[in-house]
Amino acid sequence: MRDPDSNVVQPYTQIQLDLQRAVKEQLPDADVSSVLVRVCPDPKFGDYQSNAIMSLAKGRKMNPRQLAGEISARLRLDQLCRKVEVAGAGFLNFHLGTSALAGALQSAAGADALFFEKSARPQTVVVDFSSPNVAKPMHVGHIRSTILGDCISRTLRLLGHSVISDNHIGDWGTQFGKLLVGWKLHLDGNALRQDPIAEMERLYKLINAQTESDPSVLEAARRELVRLQQGDPENLRIWREMISLSQVQFDAIYGRLGVRFDCTLGESFYNPQLEPLVNDLVQKGIARESEGALAVFFEDHPQLKAHPALVRKSDGGFNYATTDLATLQHRLQTWNPDQIVYVTDGRQQLHFQQVFAAFRKWFPHAGARLSHVWFGSILGEDGRPFKTRSGETVKLSDLLDEAEERALKVVTEKSPTLPEAERRNIARVIGIGAVKYADLLPNRQSDYVFSWDKMLALNGNTAPYLQYAYARIRSIFRKGDLDEQSLGSVKVLLEASEEIALARHLLNFGMILEAVIEDFRPNYLCNYLYELAGRFTAFYENCPVLKSEAGVRESRALLCHLTARVLRQGLEVLGIEVLEQM
Ligand code: ARG
Repeated sequence: MRDPDSNVVQPYTQIQLDLQRAVKEQLPDADVSSVLVRVCPDPKFGDYQSNAIMSLAKGRKMNPRQLAGEISARLRLDQLCRKVEVAGAGFLNFHLGTSALAGALQSAAGADALFFEKSARPQTVVVDFSSPNVAKPMHVGHIRSTILGDCISRTLRLLGHSVISDNHIGDWGTQFGKLLVGWKLHLDGNALRQDPIAEMERLYKLINAQTESDPSVLEAARRELVRLQQGDPENLRIWREMISLSQVQFDAIYGRLGVRFDCTLGESFYNPQLEPLVNDLVQKGIARESEGALAVFFEDHPQLKAHPALVRKSDGGFNYATTDLATLQHRLQTWNPDQIVYVTDGRQQLHFQQVFAAFRKWFPHAGARLSHVWFGSILGEDGRPFKTRSGETVKLSDLLDEAEERALKVVTEKSPTLPEAERRNIARVIGIGAVKYADLLPNRQSDYVFSWDKMLALNGNTAPYLQYAYARIRSIFRKGDLDEQSLGSVKVLLEASEEIALARHLLNFGMILEAVIEDFRPNYLCNYLYELAGRFTAFYENCPVLKSEAGVRESRALLCHLTARVLRQGLEVLGIEVLEQM
């Protein structure tokens, strides 16, 4: 039986706690909160590693290796570790003993939290992601924000934090002037019913082109915008319709991607707060006039010295930064979060640096950690920005359709006799999973090349490979008539080196999840899962499960069972579904 509230204390936590105790004994004045252990970068050197002693020694002008030796002599880890070594310039490397490994596997079998612990200090975190703009199709540029943000939210939730996912849609701004002119003069009702976003996009492009040659159209757009801003009922009604039509399309995509938001508070929501906010900034001496506009200056900031943040334009309109400051204030007052995470592309780096710096001036005592989690672009196989063959931006819905179609071809080739509905469902899970994984696997700050063949390959570091590894383990249980329910009481035997390597890797799952939310890097988890599947393959090729003698058979079955659960849980955190059969 699994106990949903159980929080099995993991070996890495026990090691960390004992190390902190030993440090405190040796150096009573030390701040042990920074004494942490991490997964050893190379398993050759051990299971866990700490580099904390080096900085402790440096601050005290002590010899780091000697200090590490003295602290390690105070450790009481004989039950857990077969060896603790001082290495390099003063690292401590911890090697888990086999009985500790076996014990951890056994507890995991009966626990709900698999090789991780729910946070002892749960945080409230607002995650601002996806945030497309109204009246425009969601395109391939929105996929990274949506998928990264969703994965970060899922990981935080799994570790026991409380997450508010907020879709900060672009539903306000000068584009509505042009859209209103287009809507009033050129709307094609039929086209709007068939594909509202395409029709709105057409209207926008049409008017935008006209404004370039005809100043009177620009003037008309300006007038419609002012009317909207002043609350003209007709313009408000059309504007609301444009938002709700767009939201239908956004929701269809989020449904396909399995992404959900706790709230969708777009830019317009903060509109009433902009004027009082700017007045407050002026009154507090934080913003001042500059060439007719109002700006926050950062004289004492090395990077932002030359980049003041504009909060009111010379024509009285407000800026993107103003809305983001209002948004911050609202989030602070509503949720009092420990952290706010913004997921956008790298081109918004300066914007967020300015917003964060202005916010610190405005709320000097606010403790919330603010992070801009930025990412690079998606490129075509020619190394240029990813476009359709005719050179247009790729619509997200078309991209997802193509992913499913291509996956369907593969599935049909492999299993032509499966009923079509089943093949389509498998293709959906594989196709969407492949796109997501391809997006999460690269370092988020680098550009990556979008390649259908690579992401759908059954071999290599791909979602289909991991989904297939999962399904293969499930098939062992179908074939073997093994009682999975009773695996919790199995005695774990670890003898073959492949068994030990697999077990050691399973135990790292929790630390990897922690690392994912510390740096907002899901690629750590992708690589972890890929390696897990590799270690499983090595184990399965060398250690027969079903054909082994009683005792060994159950112990190995437990390894299979735990591997499948970690694969499923890990993929779930990445937002990727699994199938029992493929
Ligand atoms: N709508 C913006 C865009 O498409 C992204 C908004 C990001 N979030 C924020 N709080 N500024 O670029």
